[in-house]
Amino acid sequence: MNLEKLRHRMPERDIRWFDTIDSTMIEAGRLAGQGCASGTVVGAEEQLAGQGRYGRTWHSEKECGLYLSVVLRLAVARDALPVVTLALGLATADAIVESTGISCDLRWPNDVLIDGKKCAGILTQLHDEAVIAGIGINVNQSEFPRELQGTATSLRLVTRMSQSREALLGSLLESIDTYTKMLETEGRKAILEAFTHASSYVRGRRVVVDQGGATIQGVTEGLDPSGFLIVRKDDGRATLILAGGVRPV
Ligand code: BTN
Repeated sequence: MNLEKLRHRMPERDIRWFDTIDSTMIEAGRLAGQGCASGTVVGAEEQLAGQGRYGRTWHSEKECGLYLSVVLRLAVARDALPVVTLALGLATADAIVESTGISCDLRWPNDVLIDGKKCAGILTQLHDEAVIAGIGINVNQSEFPRELQGTATSLRLVTRMSQSREALLGSLLESIDTYTKMLETEGRKAILEAFTHASSYVRGRRVVVDQGGATIQGVTEGLDPSGFLIVRKDDGRATLILAGGVRPV
């Protein structure tokens, strides 16, 4: 990863890049605890214990993907975290289209998909007043472990071309600034509307939601003001999905 151009373009930005790390989430949390500036980036060529949602691991093959956590100190209430997550999904999808020309779908709350397969995931954690925004993008993987083959893809697999991780990182950092500013200045509604527009999952989609053993089936009916997903179950009742894996039926 050659960060020279990016550091020149964004001289104010504190970017810490590691060859190998356990998880960028841990280092970013440590820096947040020390009072680092908003926008500080912790990235790595390889993670040995990359964290996914629900305690899963994030496959972080060396020099193939973008694995980073950004410390964000935003002028929003703590309960805006679900909407911050949606804003980061929008930022990631925009960065991918800007840098590669590929349009992505967004699966609530935070999967970035191409042709139904996941190319990026987002993990947000609160650390005192800071949000740690963890973003993993599959960029130049040419294959995945057997257990991910049916569900994961990379920008290289889709475009059949190696992609610049540097260009993508530059677009991503700018796009995160754009969407977090939009949230701060225009409020949650602006992000909810943009997400609804960008995602094929928010309205009229028949889904199954896995919720710790139980599953809910129904049709999606939009987002509530907090950013949670409304699903109309087959018995006619609407239910609010606060968390859980959403899959198409
Ligand atoms: C998901 O389960 O979809 C979220 C995946 C988030 C992965 C990224 S990679 C960079 C950052 N560091 C981690 O350990 N996880 C996040």
